[in-house]
Amino acid sequence: MGQIIKVAMPKGRIYKKAAALFREAGIDIPHDVDETRKLVIPLPEIGMEFILAKPVDVPTYVEYGVADIGIVGKDVLMEENRDVYELLDLGIARCRMSVIALPDWKPGIQQRVATKYPNVASQFFREQGQQVEVIKLNGSIELAPLIGLADRIVDMVETGQTLKENGLVELERIFDITSRLIANRVSYRMKNAEIQAVCDALAQVIVRDQVKA
Ligand code: PRP
Repeated sequence: MGQIIKVAMPKGRIYKKAAALFREAGIDIPHDVDETRKLVIPLPEIGMEFILAKPVDVPTYVEYGVADIGIVGKDVLMEENRDVYELLDLGIARCRMSVIALPDWKPGIQQRVATKYPNVASQFFREQGQQVEVIKLNGSIELAPLIGLADRIVDMVETGQTLKENGLVELERIFDITSRLIANRVSYRMKNAEIQAVCDALAQVIVRDQVKA
């Protein structure tokens, strides 16, 4: 019997896609886990313990080693900049990080950018040589240009529906986003066989799906 791996799973929209991928890879997460309100779920039958975390906190749990591995979006990884290994691009929850504005936006005196990703946004505009004031918001970022809090936003675009319905346009794509498998540096050494087995099983499914596509 190998060692139990503690897995930080993101609650919310990524969870379903990640769970489907695990199951395709032969890791049989019991279906009642999908609906539970429990936060720590021992799953000895699959050699795991799930920690159901807020997505933005997944890299923190993994960096501190209270989770051995985790599933997290590239957006969160870029913003949080935690000291973890990125093992695998899972290719799920595909979207992009973009600069967004009202269609009549022109560079002007007001250079305020609202975002849930202040580090990503600050770095991007610094590299562009643009001086902007970054305002941190926690959701519904598209509101900011609509009601005049900021003239641009940096946010995730998936289908583009939110932009369309709010009359906003994508000015520039900053980077593409997918979910990643990450690991704690010490765990990766101490539980290498177990973690590598999960990584390999997931990688096989991803390759298989790419061949099919
Ligand atoms: C995200 C993102 C956009 C939207 C993009 O918001 O911030 O608002 O999804 O998706 P779309 O291109 O398919 O419309 P989320 O639903 O996570 O909620 P939030 O506004 O609270 O961040």
